[in-house]
Order: sequence, then C-alpha cells, then structure tokens
Amino acid sequence: MGWNSWNTFGKDISEEVIMQTADALVSTGLADAGYTYLNLDDTWSNRKGEDRGRINGKLEAHPEKFPHGMKYLADYIHSKGLKFGIYSSSGRWTCMDFAASFDHEFDDANSFANWDVDYLKYDFCGLKDGDEENMNYHRMSLALSTVPRDIAFAACNWGSHNVQEWIRGTRATAFRICGDITDNFQSIRSQSEWHMQFSPYAGVGCNIDFDMLVVGMDGKGNVANGGCTDTEYMTHFAVWCMFANPLLIGADIRNMRPEALEILKNRDLIAIDQDIECRNPFLIGGDKDKGQYAYFRVLSDNRYALMFLNYSDENAEISGDLRLAGLAENSGYEMDVYDTYSHESVGRRSGIFTHKLAPHESRVYTMKLIRK
Ligand code: GLA
Repeated sequence: MGWNSWNTFGKDISEEVIMQTADALVSTGLADAGYTYLNLDDTWSNRKGEDRGRINGKLEAHPEKFPHGMKYLADYIHSKGLKFGIYSSSGRWTCMDFAASFDHEFDDANSFANWDVDYLKYDFCGLKDGDEENMNYHRMSLALSTVPRDIAFAACNWGSHNVQEWIRGTRATAFRICGDITDNFQSIRSQSEWHMQFSPYAGVGCNIDFDMLVVGMDGKGNVANGGCTDTEYMTHFAVWCMFANPLLIGADIRNMRPEALEILKNRDLIAIDQDIECRNPFLIGGDKDKGQYAYFRVLSDNRYALMFLNYSDENAEISGDLRLAGLAENSGYEMDVYDTYSHESVGRRSGIFTHKLAPHESRVYTMKLIRK
C-alpha cells in the first residue's frame, strides 16, 4: 500500500512534489491507514551521460528534478515513517526512454541499496528481439538478493508472455497482469474484468496487480480520461481489495476531496485486501455475460467476503448462492453479515442472497459462520 507518481505527475516529478506528498501521506491519515510506500515512477533519473544517462556506468538522479539526489529523498521519506520506492525497466531503456537496467542489474541493485530503497517497480520497455523476458526478471531478482537490504520487487510486464505462469518463480512480490489504467470507468472495468480469472495464480507474497488506483483523480493528471463518479471509484477500490491488489494511490493527495479520501481509507475493504491468506475469489452467482457478478472469498479466522458487482450499464438484481460457497442447507450454520460500505451489521443470511445495484455500483459484505 502506498502512492506512485505516474498517474498524476507523469514526467513532471520533482523533489518538491515528492516531499510534499510524503507530508500529505502523513497529514491525511493515509499512512496510518496503511499507505506507507512512496514510489517514484519513470523519469526520475538523469538523461545526460552515456547510455541515456549513466554516469561512470551508474544510474544517477535527474539533477534538476532531484538536486539533492536519491539518498537525501530517501532520508526525508524514512524520517516520516514511510518507505521509498523507485522504478526501472528490464530492458535497455524505460518506457519514457531513460536508462534502464538490462546488463546493469547488479550495479543498479547496489545503487538502490545504497540509497536505502525499499521497493522496485520493474517495467518491460527496452527489450530487443531474442531477449528472454522471464530471464530478465530472474536477473534482477538475483541482483536484489545480493544487497544487504530487503527490496520489494514489483514486476510490470503488462501480463504478456503468460507472466502468471512463471513470475512467482522470480521472487517477485507483485505482478502486473494488464496494460495501463486511465481515469475512466471503462478502463477500470477492462483492467480488471478479464483478468479476474488469473487471481488463482496469485497468493501470499506475490499479488496480482490490475495497475495503480485512479480513485480521486477527478479527471486530472497524466492518465486523465474523463474521471469517474464516487460510486465508480468505490467499485474500483472494492474490486482491487477483493482481488488482493497492491493499493497504490495515483491521485494528487495534497488536494484530495474528503469523499475520495474516505473511499481510500475504508478499513473493512483494506482488511480484505490485506488478508494474510490471500485466497482467490470465486463466483457464486451473477451473470457473466452481462458483467454482473457475485464473488465470494475465504478470509482468515473463519471470515468470508462477498462482493456484488455490477459492471454493466443497467440496473441489476444479482443473486449469490451461499450453498455454492459450501453453506449446505442441512449444516446447522448461517452467515452473520456485515456491510463494509456502511460499517453496519445487517443480520443473518443463508441460501440465496440477492442484491439490487444501480449501474456501476457494488457492495461488499464480510461474514462469519455461526450456528443457527
Ligand atoms: C509503463 C507502465 C506504467 C508506467 C509507465 C512509465 O507504461 O506500465 O505503469 O510505469 O511505463 O513510463
């Protein structure tokens, strides 16, 4: 959980913006809610030098954007109780054509460790025909294992080359399963809907990633595309939590509407996202062809989650059959149900649980199995 610079700032990042964002993570209460990683994305490095910006073979911070260098920034971020993330690519250049790490993996891992980096996003630009895509991720994994620092390793190859089948073997802590999100409901839907089927490949220590959050971007920033309503942002956040995604905020948190902040701080949804068993949701109802779903997920400590999701543009009445989740009629048990949106108990349910939803609306319940 944290924040990443790309969705709002794109190439317009700077020491000032990042330090202000560190302050805002703390003052908004987002850090207390769990958002502790502050991650720089592409364009943080120097552009001038051999090989698109290396100086004596080493990566350097962009001198105008980050005049005091990366260690200075890391110290500031750490002084706020936060963690520091950085970005590179597994090819020869990044997607914005800055220096990347192919054939420099061990040097770069050393630089990151010397700067006290805690997290690396590792992209997929700058590859040449004949490159072994998965080997490039193994190379950085081994390089990171040689440095005296624990650095989370977030793979970002956009779901290509059947990434779900091999990525866990690289020691990656997360893997992007799709291309880039924009601040638009159709984008949120297409990032997640097709890719939900890959969630059984994720698990403890290696989460599936539908890309960074656009909650609260309100039509502004580097991936602006019309914006969403708060109902849509809520659905976006709920789906990401239900599928145990990394929660990386992309909005400008220095000026955020309270309603958007409230969505991001929903403690009950965050608890589902962070559940230590990281089990995949499965369908117990809905109508896939219409984009209407009832997804059930087993959580730790005898807790369960049920998401009613209406991705369609029509009003929906969605039924989830708790018998398909194992709650047999003769079990003598039922579910004690709690609404994660209103934070209220809503009584007991067994058998078929039906919910009405407006277009793009969702609802997530948590449940506990109790004797009748
Ligand atoms: C790719 C990634 C994005 C972002 C940009 C930066 O498109 O998928 O998340 O990191 O590169 O250039």
